[in-house]
Amino acid sequence: MKHEIVEKNIGLMAVLVVIAVSFGGLAQIVPLFFSDETTKPIDGLKPLPALALEGRDIYIREGCNVCHTQMIRPFRAETERYGHYSLASEHVYEHPFLWGSKRTGPDLARVGGRYSDEWHRAHLYNPRDVVPESNMPEFPWLFDNVLDGKLTGKKMEALRSVGVPYTDADIAGARDAVKGKREIDAVVVYLQQLGTLLKQKR
Ligand code: HEC
Repeated sequence: MKHEIVEKNIGLMAVLVVIAVSFGGLAQIVPLFFSDETTKPIDGLKPLPALALEGRDIYIREGCNVCHTQMIRPFRAETERYGHYSLASEHVYEHPFLWGSKRTGPDLARVGGRYSDEWHRAHLYNPRDVVPESNMPEFPWLFDNVLDGKLTGKKMEALRSVGVPYTDADIAGARDAVKGKREIDAVVVYLQQLGTLLKQKR
């Protein structure tokens, strides 16, 4: 019997198993490339303004995304705490996306507007000043470092080449929008817009 040949030949069986399993994977994954829900931006989504874009890069540089996810899963425990679960269509302009899977701190996907700018400043200067039991590191140098915006336009151009709809005016104005601002300003602007397009709808 042909079946017996497969069962007695582990190499052949491994190859055939991989083929069988990948059909399952393809059936789940490929349609997502063509589904509007995952590829089209949610209504009102705009590319990050210059200062927020710099804030995002500082967020990555400081490893904030190592302790914080930006991905609310569709479970009651998560939506009660963080708000509406994350949609792919909110993240289509993000390269790379910062969903993450490790939560040392809370998820930040919808932290925008939850606290005041002053709260964020105090918290980033020294988390213990506002959350006594916090074990988040402090980031006091964000208050000293000043941005020059030299590369902001170039970053926008790079993002535009992968489909983020920055306009020529955005790119031309990027440097002035950032120059002279402190890193803390950029990070707070970035945090305050996170997830605000789709606020909690329970
Ligand atoms: C070592 C892990 C770690 C790193 C790195 C880290 N955080 Fe946190 N973060 C935490 C923990 C733990 C908390 C919860 C306690 C608190 O609020 O301080 C927290 C809380 C927060 C909160 C409040 C969230 C809420 O919903 O209450 C914000 C905002 C935040 N972090 C932003 C940042 C930013 C921005 C950075 C990078 C500059 C960063 N974190 C880096 C661990 C971390």
